[in-house]
Amino acid sequence: MAGGAYIESGGRQYEGKVTAFVLITCFVAAMGGLLFGYDLGITGGVTSMEPFLVKFFPVVYQQMLDDSSTNQYCKFDNQLLTLFTSSLYLAALIASFFAATTSRLFGRKPSMFLGGLFFLVGALLNGFAVNVEMLIIGRIFLGFGVGYCNQSVPIYLSEMAPTKIRGALNIGFQMMITIGILGANLINYATSKRQNGWRVSLGVGAVPAVLLCVGSLFLEETPNSLIERGQHVKAKTMLQKIRGTNNVDEEYQDLVDASEAASKVENPWKNITRRRYRPQLTFCTFIPFFQQLTGINVIMFYAPVLFTILGFGNDASLMSAVITGGVNVLATLVSVFCVDKFGRRLLFLEGGVQMLVSQIVVGIMIAMKFGLNGEGSFNKEEADILLVFICLYVAAFAWSWGPLGWLVPSEICSLEVRPAGQAINVAVNMFFTFGIAQVFLSLLCHFKFGLFFFFAAWVLVMTIFIAFLLPETKNVPVEEMNYVWKSHWFWNKYMPECEDLVAGAYNNFEAAPQKE
Ligand code: BGC
Repeated sequence: MAGGAYIESGGRQYEGKVTAFVLITCFVAAMGGLLFGYDLGITGGVTSMEPFLVKFFPVVYQQMLDDSSTNQYCKFDNQLLTLFTSSLYLAALIASFFAATTSRLFGRKPSMFLGGLFFLVGALLNGFAVNVEMLIIGRIFLGFGVGYCNQSVPIYLSEMAPTKIRGALNIGFQMMITIGILGANLINYATSKRQNGWRVSLGVGAVPAVLLCVGSLFLEETPNSLIERGQHVKAKTMLQKIRGTNNVDEEYQDLVDASEAASKVENPWKNITRRRYRPQLTFCTFIPFFQQLTGINVIMFYAPVLFTILGFGNDASLMSAVITGGVNVLATLVSVFCVDKFGRRLLFLEGGVQMLVSQIVVGIMIAMKFGLNGEGSFNKEEADILLVFICLYVAAFAWSWGPLGWLVPSEICSLEVRPAGQAINVAVNMFFTFGIAQVFLSLLCHFKFGLFFFFAAWVLVMTIFIAFLLPETKNVPVEEMNYVWKSHWFWNKYMPECEDLVAGAYNNFEAAPQKE
């Protein structure tokens, strides 16, 4: 294996072009994000539609009508209804572990296909639901779909992409999530005024699911996964095809080395808990945890409630859909263009500071207006200012923790721990998505405006965490990540001596100058 130039951020560059084939492939795979986004965006709206509540949750509906509280902090909260919503995230959490095994043994493609298929069944069961049982079983299927897609799509994208645009291509996944959320919000707005509109809202989920199922049948498997499953000749041809050059020997050899190291691993779950994988385990656990502790899903799930409080009246849900949804999509584009140029750290740090400032401003404004008793209202100008800060917050998330929350865990794990690392990432993400959805309304009622400071404090902690512990990973080939840990002030002590290191970096430490 030849030693390569040690470029600024570690690792080396392989020869290759950005081929149309790889772009189309990644576009199709990224559609997996649509499923997750569509569900994130559709459910909150559906569970506030009157005909839906009357049909499936009549008791809850009656309690809602009887609720006459004017306290802006203590909105109607029903654990059963939220549990229905968040059951999907629990199902996704469980599914991600099965998906890890499927991805490892059968490839990333079957996992994506299964994800689409589960989601399709779930969307149909929900769209045609005649009783609560169908609704709940449907949700569990949807959750399985999300678990399978979120486990396999990010690693598929990171493995297919040429190193220098890996960030941009991987963010295609988050881009699709945001498009899914925006699309779902708009569909909800259109259907909310119709008697059986909820059926359309839930059933339309079948569309992205069919797209993914059909699309994934035409996708090619990643070279990494082909090698992992012994199909070496096919893997090399695939690598030549996606890189648009015949000169792929160096990259191919690194993939083979990585795979040989991976094949020695008997238990991938136990393996990731070993000392040498401490950085991967840490980031695959803390990145999703922190991503949810930014508080983003408070905006995503409860935007209609928040915007009503801001005084947008009947147009609240449309406004929230267009404004937060639109900002979310556009700001994600910023990260597509910046992530491989300026790196992951800069986006994380800038995004963190911007979120922190916006949350503090929002908290202060709400404290000044609603005080402790939650009574009051905003005038037009104040509401506009608040809106600007909410948008600044959403934009900051959308170019930092949103996309990077999926990109970084998928690119830092070497092959032998990749499916396990990504499953942990999905599971932790889903667990805290579930948790926040479940407790947000009661937290708001108890913490009042302090809730914004609570999330701000977490944003501060996570920004410091990134500043000290996350090394830059732009431009580093996935199978060469060990360079990065080895040259990091903190993680380097967890790395075994060079000859003991696994994967593609095996011989390269000698050749590569260490970063200061
Ligand atoms: C997060 C979701 C969030 C979405 C917002 C995703 O990266 O995982 O929880 O709702 O971004 O765009």
